[in-house]
Amino acid sequence: MKGVFIVFEGIDGCGKSTQLQALSERLQSYGIEPVVVREPGGTPVGEQIRQILLDRPFEMEPLTELFLYEASRSELTRTIIRPALAAGQVVLADRFAMASLAYQSYGRGLDFTLVQRFNRIATDGIEPSLTIILDVPVEIAFARKRRAFDRLERAGPQFHERVRQGYRELAHQTPRSLLLDGTRPPAELAEQIWTAVQSLFQGGG
Ligand code: TMP
Repeated sequence: MKGVFIVFEGIDGCGKSTQLQALSERLQSYGIEPVVVREPGGTPVGEQIRQILLDRPFEMEPLTELFLYEASRSELTRTIIRPALAAGQVVLADRFAMASLAYQSYGRGLDFTLVQRFNRIATDGIEPSLTIILDVPVEIAFARKRRAFDRLERAGPQFHERVRQGYRELAHQTPRSLLLDGTRPPAELAEQIWTAVQSLFQGGG
């Protein structure tokens, strides 16, 4: 794969979408037009799956939830991410496979190895060049939310606490990942991210 694949992760309200947007604009100012995707979603079928997962009133079994996230991921990987990376493009993703480990394994309690196995199938073995994880205490992250909570956000503070701890552990286990204090001012975070991305482009990892 010739391209560069940068993933943003963290609990809901951690500020990752803001930082992804800032990085996208910075790359554009250097003449690099990134491919920007989000999970779940990013494809016609993925956006429908997103609605089922987040916007509908019904509950579902944790395994059903995992399969839906993985179905969306498989479609996005095969139709957008893989071709873009093969063409040498920069792909910025608002969440990827690490989210299923954090939410469906640490959060919902599904077996870690099982989630890893489905991730490997859905991602076709594609791994991020860099994963940026913004770490924010649950109460601060939720105080930032302005719109109505979606189904996952309604899962409660203890669930999101497990997800947060999950991300912190995953950051330590994952090579090419960067755990940042998401309570720092957005401009400062953007600089830290830019430094890491520059080093990635210069082959410094
Ligand atoms: P977003 O609000 O950041 O777009 O993410 C959608 C929600 O889906 C968020 O609450 C995290 C959750 N999620 C999972 O539970 N598992 C996953 O694999 C992904 C990608 C997201």
